[in-house]
Amino acid sequence: MTLVCFLRADGTLDKEVSAAAGQRLLDVAWAAREPLEGACEGVMACSTCHVIVDKEDFERLPPASEEEEDLLDLASHTARTSRLACQIILTEEMERLTVRIPPAATNWMGR
Ligand code: FES
Repeated sequence: MTLVCFLRADGTLDKEVSAAAGQRLLDVAWAAREPLEGACEGVMACSTCHVIVDKEDFERLPPASEEEEDLLDLASHTARTSRLACQIILTEEMERLTVRIPPAATNWMGR
């Protein structure tokens, strides 16, 4: 299991959830009712699932593909450690992953 910490845009803790290895971060966010749209559901045709990963956690993730980098270039409110949540697969080795939902995240639940 991996502990995923979701931070609000202002950096305060929103919630911590446990997630199984092999799950996509996007699915974990949806299950936790985080306001990430993920319009294309992971087929790399949008960038509405981007999150800002904690700096140390970012260094431990496998590098983004060229396609993911290209999509992130089109997104707004990104940071050096931004990633697409649909491309992050949780592993046992991660133990803990902290991500911040950017202020421009599409608010699909109206929160
Ligand atoms: S859900 Fe569209 S790129 Fe991640």
